[in-house]
Amino acid sequence: MSLQGKRVVVGLGGGIAAFKAVELVRELSRRGAEVRVVMTEAATHFVGPITFAGLTGKPAVTDLWAKEYAGEVHVELGEWADAIVIAPATMNLISRAANGQANDAVLATLACARGVVFFAPSMHHRMWSHGATQANIRTLTDREAVVLGPVTGPLANGEVGEGRMMEPADIAEEIESHLTHSDDLSGSRLLVTAGPTHEDLDPVRFLGNRSSGRMGYAIASRALRRGAEVTLVSGPVHLPVPSGAEVIRVRSAVEMHAAVMSRFDQFDVLIMAAAVADYRPAQRESHKIKKGGDLRLELVRNPDILASVGAKRVQRPSVLVGFALETENLEQSARDKLERKAADLIVANEASAGLGGDTNRATLVEASATTSLPEMGKPALADQILDRVRTLLKNPSARPRRETGHKAPN
Ligand code: C5P
Repeated sequence: MSLQGKRVVVGLGGGIAAFKAVELVRELSRRGAEVRVVMTEAATHFVGPITFAGLTGKPAVTDLWAKEYAGEVHVELGEWADAIVIAPATMNLISRAANGQANDAVLATLACARGVVFFAPSMHHRMWSHGATQANIRTLTDREAVVLGPVTGPLANGEVGEGRMMEPADIAEEIESHLTHSDDLSGSRLLVTAGPTHEDLDPVRFLGNRSSGRMGYAIASRALRRGAEVTLVSGPVHLPVPSGAEVIRVRSAVEMHAAVMSRFDQFDVLIMAAAVADYRPAQRESHKIKKGGDLRLELVRNPDILASVGAKRVQRPSVLVGFALETENLEQSARDKLERKAADLIVANEASAGLGGDTNRATLVEASATTSLPEMGKPALADQILDRVRTLLKNPSARPRRETGHKAPN
C-alpha cells in the first residue's frame, strides 16, 4: 500500500487503450491511492464513465458544464492531485496539451496541475514517430512532464510497432516510484553542472561538443522535485530552467571552473554532468580570423574542475559525482577516474548512447560497488543517480576514506 495517502487523477483520451485505464484505476487504488477520473468526450465512446464511478466511488468528470460540478472542478482536481496521469495519451491529446489548450475536462485539469504530470502515449506507430508528436513530447518533457512509454508490441490494427500503451501495472509502478521519492533530499544543497562549454577562437567561432545539457538539467529537475536546493552552473544550452533552480550561466571551461571553485564548499553535493572541453585555443583573437592558407590551432589544457574540487575539498561537498563518456573499457576507465579525481561516484556511459539523446545506458561506479543499469530516459537515470547520492549522504561510511591534499591534474 505504498501509494497510501496519495491522490491521483487519471485522465483518459479517446483511444482503444482506454479499456486499460480501468485496470490502471484499480491498480492505483490497490496500492492505496485515492483516484479520481476525468475523460475527454472521445474517451466516453470507448469506455463508460459509470465504470469509473463504480471503481472510485466518485463520478468521472466528463463535462465542465455539468450541473453537479458547481464551482471549478478542474481547479479543484488540479490542486487536489499529487499526480495526474493521462492514459491513454492520444496523438491529439498530446498535441493539445503541448499547445496549452484547456477546452475540455482533461486539459483544463492538466492546466491546473500542482503535482507531477505523466503521459502514457498510445497510438499507431506512425503517429508516434510523426515529427509533430515527437516535437510535442519534447515540449511536454521540457515542461517537466514524465512520459511513460509507449512500448513496442502488437497495435490495434494488428501491426507490431512502437506505440502500445505501457501496461497498467508498470504505469502504477512508475507513479509510485516518483511519488515516494518526494522530499527525500530535502535539506540537501546540490551544485549541478550541465551542458557543453564553448571555447572561443574569435568573436564568432568556438570549439564545442554535442552535449545537449539534458542529463544535468534532468538531475537538477529531479533533485528539486525531491526537495533539494539546486544551483545549476550551465554551459550554453537551449533548455528551459527547471523551476526553483538558481542558474549561473557560463560559456567556457575557465568560466565554469571559476563558478564552481568559488562556491563548491557551500554545497553538500557536486554533480559534474557538464561535458567540459579539455582544451581551449591558446589565444582568442579579437577580430574574426581571416581565411587564408591552412591554419594550425594551438590548444592549451583547461583546468579539470572535478579533480580540482576533489583535491581541495575538506568537508563539503561530502558527495562528489562525475561522468565518464567512454568508447572502450568502460568500467576500468571509470574506476581510474574515480581515483584520479577523488570522486565518490562516476556515472559511466557509452559514447554512442551518451551525448545529445533522450536516453542513456549507464554504469554507476563507486569504490565498493558497480551497478549496470539498462537503457532508460534521462529523468529515470537522474533518479537512479540521486538514489545513490542520497545513500552516500546518509551513510558516510559508504564513502571511501581519503587523505586530503590530492594533487589536482591540470
Ligand atoms: O576526464 P574526463 O573528461 O573524461 O572526465 C569527465 C568528468 O570530469 C565529467 O564529470 C566532467 O564534468 C569532469 N570534467 C571537469 N573538468 C574538465 C573535464 C572534465 O570537471 N576540464
